[in-house]
Amino acid sequence: MTDCILVLDFGGQYCHLIARRIRELNVYSEIVSPKTTPEDIEECGKKYKVRGLIISGGPQSVYDKDSLKLDKRILDLDLGILGLCYGHQLIAYMEGGLVRAGEQGEYGITKAFIDKPVGILAGLSKEEDVWMSHSDTVKEMPSTYEILAHTDNTPVAAFQHREKKIHGVQWHPEVVHTRHGRKIFENFVRDVCKCAGNWVMEDFIESSIEKIKKKVGKKKAIIALSGGIDSSTAAVLAGKAIGKNLTAVFVDTGLMRKNEPALIEETFSGKFDLDFRMVDARERFFSALRCIEDPEEKRKRIGEAFIRVFEGVAREINAEFLIQGTIYPDRIESGSQHAFTIKSHHNVGGLPAKLGLRIVEPLEDLYKDEVRVVARKLDLPPEIVDRHPFPGPGLAIRIIGEVTPESARIIREADSIVKEEIRESGLAPGLWQFFAILLPIKTVGVQGDARTYRNTIALRIVESVDGMTANFARIPYDVLERISTRITNEIPEVNRVVYDLTHKPPGTIEWE
Ligand code: XMP
Repeated sequence: MTDCILVLDFGGQYCHLIARRIRELNVYSEIVSPKTTPEDIEECGKKYKVRGLIISGGPQSVYDKDSLKLDKRILDLDLGILGLCYGHQLIAYMEGGLVRAGEQGEYGITKAFIDKPVGILAGLSKEEDVWMSHSDTVKEMPSTYEILAHTDNTPVAAFQHREKKIHGVQWHPEVVHTRHGRKIFENFVRDVCKCAGNWVMEDFIESSIEKIKKKVGKKKAIIALSGGIDSSTAAVLAGKAIGKNLTAVFVDTGLMRKNEPALIEETFSGKFDLDFRMVDARERFFSALRCIEDPEEKRKRIGEAFIRVFEGVAREINAEFLIQGTIYPDRIESGSQHAFTIKSHHNVGGLPAKLGLRIVEPLEDLYKDEVRVVARKLDLPPEIVDRHPFPGPGLAIRIIGEVTPESARIIREADSIVKEEIRESGLAPGLWQFFAILLPIKTVGVQGDARTYRNTIALRIVESVDGMTANFARIPYDVLERISTRITNEIPEVNRVVYDLTHKPPGTIEWE
């Protein structure tokens, strides 16, 4: 059974990073509720060998009336336990240590004096740069604990129980500013929790195929292939498990990017031992969008049209299961662990209930870059593995105003030029997204000695880590110039190109 470290999320900003750091050590890690009980851990033990718990940081004080507390029985479990920041204070408070609220806090890089380089601090130097963000402070610990480190303001900056495997550090080893953060986690997972550190993607692929086989058996399953990495990877994994009993449906909405349907067909048709179907639904989508200008109405109609197409295939093949490419971050929203949401851009919301489909999500425990590793191992082409995000409603939300086959053609051409030039410039890997938007306004221009009155294209090129916030990218003028010149030369309907200089917030990345 795979070793696992559970991270109890007390609302810390960096909680996600903790699970990432553990996984980087080839140990499986999951984020769970702060209210996790020993019974929950036992339940999790059916899937994984739980070897340790990390109690995350959080914004509260242990003295706040409503502050989240740990189930008392957790500290009696025979597991490695590591408290970070609020987790450190919480353990101190629960074990009878002295925590002072509202003292002089520490923020940013702080010098920690390692008094005893043992246990989780083994291998650290006498003085370490660590990253702090706290106002409450642990002043004393009962004699069952030894103090391992202090700072100028915090007498108990790290501790360990003399007999049990309970540890705490006031700082954040998960952020890169703590220089030897990785070493602390390594000590914890290897020496304290005795994890083997053998969680690798090959194992994941094998066990995931087995799980799908077991769940679906000889029944039929269906998956909506969007062309993105998640659904493509889920499709290949499921295909390996159940072969032709999986039907992968790619819907050509007429709103895809240039050559995209062809790429998907080439990638999947006759490959991976699954039943691939491309459905040409362009007419259905354009007629659903006729005369519609409101962005939300566009989304709704696209979703409905998609469901109709998908429903048809699901009924035809008698599907009983729906495979989805949901990944780990889709499942967790800050503060509400395991919030289960069907990704809106899979466009199948409402469908499982209606058709009585059971859901299988082979990637539900993986982060995006882990999905990329799996996708490469499964031989998916780089065009899919390294694809930048593309919204489910496709080019429709990049046409401001009515969507017609004509406006879709214009934006598809412009998008393709942006893509080619940005790739050519070598800037693509550092960017979150780069695309064009077709504006409904016409302006006056002069081309070939004649006055023109034509459309405007806006360019949106942004940097972002997760799409939640974004900066417009500082693209060199010569690259912008090439894009602008090509668009006005190659697309007769366009005579002006503008660059969007808005960060998110206040703007969103897409214009609709
Ligand atoms: P916004 O425009 O909200 O976009 O700043 C953030 C990220 O989400 C993508 N996006 C969508 N993806 N369906 C999707 O699947 C949608 O309706 C949708 N709207 C925006 C957007 O491309 C960006 O990466």
